[in-house]
Amino acid sequence: MTDSLSIRDNRTGRDYEIAITDGTIRAADLKQIALDGEPGLATYDPGFVNTASCRSAITYIDGDAGVLEYRGYPIEQLAESSSYLEVAYLLLNGELPTSDELAGWTHEVTHHTFLHENLKQFIQGFRYDAHPMGMLMASVSALSTYYPDAREIADPENRRLQITRLVAKMPTLGAFAYRHGQGKPYVYPDNDLSYTANFLAMLFKMSEQKYNADERLIKALEVLFILHADHEQNCSTNAVRSVGSSQVDPYSAVAAGIGALYGPLHGGANEAVLKMLRRIGTVDKVGEFIEGVKAGKEKLMGFGHRVYKNYDPRATIIKKACDDVFAVTGVNPLLKIAMELEKIALEDEYFISRKLYPNVDFYSGLIYEALQFPPEMFTVLFAIPRTSGWLAQWQELLMDKDQKIARPKQIYTGARTRDFIPIEKR
Ligand code: CMC
Repeated sequence: MTDSLSIRDNRTGRDYEIAITDGTIRAADLKQIALDGEPGLATYDPGFVNTASCRSAITYIDGDAGVLEYRGYPIEQLAESSSYLEVAYLLLNGELPTSDELAGWTHEVTHHTFLHENLKQFIQGFRYDAHPMGMLMASVSALSTYYPDAREIADPENRRLQITRLVAKMPTLGAFAYRHGQGKPYVYPDNDLSYTANFLAMLFKMSEQKYNADERLIKALEVLFILHADHEQNCSTNAVRSVGSSQVDPYSAVAAGIGALYGPLHGGANEAVLKMLRRIGTVDKVGEFIEGVKAGKEKLMGFGHRVYKNYDPRATIIKKACDDVFAVTGVNPLLKIAMELEKIALEDEYFISRKLYPNVDFYSGLIYEALQFPPEMFTVLFAIPRTSGWLAQWQELLMDKDQKIARPKQIYTGARTRDFIPIEKR
C-alpha cells in the first residue's frame, strides 16, 4: 500500500499524486492542481469540520468511543487520582510531576496569586451588574500591560513565568469579578490553602478568620477543574492559537480564548443549560419542551458535540460528582428536570439519529448552582482551569516549526472592480 492519493483533475485530464501523512493530506499540496493561469485548488471548510490545523501531543479524543486522554492518561484516572495543579503540570510539561516537581510548581503558583492593587481598582470600575466573563476577559487583557516583558515569547524562562502568573491569578480574577457582582469586599488569596480551597475562600469568606470549605466540595471542584483543563482544538483553543500565531503576549492570546469561551455554543452553554432548566420549571413540561426542540424552535442546551458522537466522558464523571456535592448542599431540584430531559432525549429518534448525547455542560451547571454560584459565574469556572490547557497549546504552537500566522483563505463572492458613485448619485 502506498501512502498517497491519486487525483485526476477532470477539467484538464492531468493526474496528481499527493502524499498522505497521519491520515491527512497537506492542503498546500492541492495548490499544484490548477487551471492554466488560475490559482490552484483549495479546500472550503467553514467551522474546520474536517481540517487539522496543527500537530499536537497534548489531548487525545476519540469521539465515537467517548475517550478523552491528557498526554495519554485517561481522564477517568486523572479525575480519580490527581489534583488540578498536577494535571496542569502534566499538560504544560508533558509528564506527570515527581513529588519535588509538584511541590515546586505548587509553591510557585501559590506565590503568584496576588494581583497588583491597580488591577483591583480596574475591576472596581465595572458596573455593578457587569457579566463576570466580560470582567475576566478585560482584566486578563489588562495583565499584559502590567507585564510588558511577556512579549519576550521566544525566551523559555520568560514564558514559564507568564504561564505561572496566569495559572495563579485566574482564580483571583474570577473571585474578584464574583465579589464585585455581589457588592462584597474582595478577599485576598490565602497561601496556606490549596488552589481550589483558596478559590472557594476568595469567593465565600466573610468575617471569619479563616475560611475552610467542606473537603467534599473542594474535591468536587478539583474534579471539575481537571475535566475542564483541556479539550484539544475547540473554539477557544483555536482562538488562543490563532491570536498567539501573531506572536502577541500570552495574556492577549488567553483573553481571546476567554472571549470565545463566553459564547453560548461553547463554554457559555452551562449557563444556558441552567436558564433552560429554570424556564422548563417542572418535570411535566419536559415533553412539550422536547417537541419544541425537535420542531427546531430551540436547542437542547448541554446536548451534542462536534467531536463526541457518544456520551461525553466528562459528563459521566460530573454526574457522579453531583451526588457528592448534593450530599453536602442538598439535592438541586432542577436535577429531576435534567434527568427527565436526558431520559426522553436518549430514547428519541431525533437525538439518536443525530448522535446527540449530554456533554460536559449538561450537569456541571447543577453543581455550580448547588455551590451557590449565580449562572453568570459558570463560564468563569470553566475559564479558570482551561487556562492551563490554553497555555500548553500556546506553548506547543510556538515550538512548532510548521506553524505560521493563522490566515485562512476565502472564496470571494462579492462584486468586482466597480466605479465609485458619488453620494448624491446613489
Ligand atoms: N439540540 C437540538 N438539536 C441539536 C443540538 C442540540 N443541542 N445539537 C445539534 N443539534 C442538531 C442540529 O440542529 C443538526 O440537525 P440537522 O442535521 O437536522 O440540521 C444536527 O444536530 C447536527 O448539529 P450541528 O449543529 O451540525 O453540530 P455542530 O458540530 O456544528 O455543533 C454544538 C456542535 C455543540 C455547537 C451543538 O451540538 C450545540 O449547539 N449544542 C448545544 C450547545 C452546547 O451544549 N454546547 C456545549 C458544547 S460542549 C462544551 C464546550 O465545547 O464548551
